[in-house]
Amino acid sequence: MDTVHPIYLVGGSKGGVGKSMVTLAMADYLQRKGTHAVLLETDTSNPDVVKALRDEIKCAAYNLDDADGWIGFVNFCDTHRGAAVIVNTAARNQAGVTRYGGTLARTLARTLAELERQLVVLWVINRQRDSLELLHIFGQTFPDTLTHVVRNGYFGEPDKFTLYQESQLRKTIETKGRSLDFPDLADRVADEVRSQRISIRKAAEVMQIGQRAELFRWRELCDDMFSKVISIEGIGHEQ
Ligand SMILES: Nc1ncnc2c1ncn2[C@@H]1O[C@H](COP(=O)(O)OP(=O)(O)O)[C@@H](O)[C@H]1O
Ligand SMILES: [Mg+2]
Repeated sequence: MDTVHPIYLVGGSKGGVGKSMVTLAMADYLQRKGTHAVLLETDTSNPDVVKALRDEIKCAAYNLDDADGWIGFVNFCDTHRGAAVIVNTAARNQAGVTRYGGTLARTLARTLAELERQLVVLWVINRQRDSLELLHIFGQTFPDTLTHVVRNGYFGEPDKFTLYQESQLRKTIETKGRSLDFPDLADRVADEVRSQRISIRKAAEVMQIGQRAELFRWRELCDDMFSKVISIEGIGHEQ
């Protein structure tokens, strides 16, 4: 029996919706569960998550705006067959996804099937309309992909996400995927994590006790969220 983990794509297109925070939290979650994880950063101009994680897990950066990047991406997934691949996407990559989208999505789906890798999308949203519009476009490009929506609590309580709550898109998402709530981390702790470019694991070791208490509170809520969509065992495959 060999364990195959999915490729988790943290999307959301827009800058500042919390993709990097979700990626950091997911890496921390998988590490703590003892799941081998690797990171693929597609924001090559600002690889902030790589800076935080490169001492802990295998990281690579590819620009998905060109064909070369996509080739690197697929090969990276092939090389790290035994690992959960976390893909942190850049705001920019919508262009690449749209440009290469139609054919790429089909090819990618085939290629990942050949690699026996499932693609799972976590789409991070704020309360504005454009994060939903971009999700709609993404869904058209990758129609059969299991997609979960992550309401980032940084922007308010779940019931404040009224546009999403009342949308047809939510109904569509929830036929296969889930609507999730990513917890808000106190600004003081979040700012420290981001400005020092450290991982959550590292922060849990080095921060002062007050910040650490807040971090642990947040982590437990992250666990609740990720446990709904991440299977630690991966998917078993007979060899
Ligand atoms: N859940 C959250 N809790 C606390 N702060 C957050 C959260 N989500 C986002 N932030 C803040 O917003 C900033 C931008 O988030 P980031 O993850 O870098 O967005 P993106 O990667 O989508 O551009 C972070 O540096 C952080 O300060
Ligand atoms: Mg980012």
